Amino acid sequence: MWVRVLGAAAGGGFPQWNCSCPQCGAARDGSRPCRSRTQSSVAVSADYRRWFLLNASPDIRAQIESFPALHPRGIRDSPLQAVLLTDAELDHTLGLLLLREAGDLEVHATAAAHETLSTGTSLLQTLGAYAHVEWRPVSTGVEVSLADDLSYRAFPVPTNKRARFGTGEGEESVVGYRITDERTGRTLVYIPGAQELTASVIAHLEDCTCLLFDGTCWQDDELIQLGIAGKTSRDMGHLPISGADGSLEQLAPLPIERKIYIHINNTNPILLEDAPERRLVEEHGLEVAADGLELEI
Ligand code: MLT
Ligand code: MN
Ligand code: ZN
Repeated sequence: MWVRVLGAAAGGGFPQWNCSCPQCGAARDGSRPCRSRTQSSVAVSADYRRWFLLNASPDIRAQIESFPALHPRGIRDSPLQAVLLTDAELDHTLGLLLLREAGDLEVHATAAAHETLSTGTSLLQTLGAYAHVEWRPVSTGVEVSLADDLSYRAFPVPTNKRARFGTGEGEESVVGYRITDERTGRTLVYIPGAQELTASVIAHLEDCTCLLFDGTCWQDDELIQLGIAGKTSRDMGHLPISGADGSLEQLAPLPIERKIYIHINNTNPILLEDAPERRLVEEHGLEVAADGLELEI
């Protein structure tokens, strides 16, 4: 299976247009080693011909252009087969609107995410005026065949993040995807947003080959300390990386070939390649995703 990180940043991207935190500042003035990143999205394929998107970021147009395997092979064509949504967050779904030139668009989402996109953000109504959207309801715990050699199983990711749009909350508003290459049995698990690493989430990581996991914030009060927001990382549905109960200590011992942080917020010091926080992540055997990272797993 081929996995291409199209974008590795959280909502806002890196640098973010209205931010001059130390990281965004360094990305602009080059004073520290770092690479800018677009908002998180991943493309997956078993044959390098038919590709499936995990979330559709607002940066999707540039992301498709940056990856020749996603370019059209005919006058009106796309190797993109479907979009799998983990939730209805804007940074994971606004890209759907930018695919409006498609005749048909296949979108896999839970009933909760679909509800938010229909009656909350109304994104699907808007998109539906341009393209025919084929909704494939996602049920957790069910193995779904995507292409000849590729299948997925969604699993619930518990969250009590308060939705900005009053619908689609609760059960299955956020899911993770476990994608399996049937020929090799090798698997990718994608979890760009997780408030806790519960026993049930960890159970879905068993025997997984590669994990792309929520790396939004380094510390829980990161945005509060910078004076950017009054919310903690956990309030926003994201388990911080650092600390005894953070994701780094919990993921480090797991026997997974590649463990990679994605959905990294621009305030997170791991974006700076010379930061002690970045070194700590790498010393624990984890990696930090950047746009264009391609894996054959
Ligand atoms: C989040 O996941 O909390 C976001 O990336 C924030 C946003 O999309 O604005
Ligand atoms: Mn986000
Ligand atoms: Zn910033």
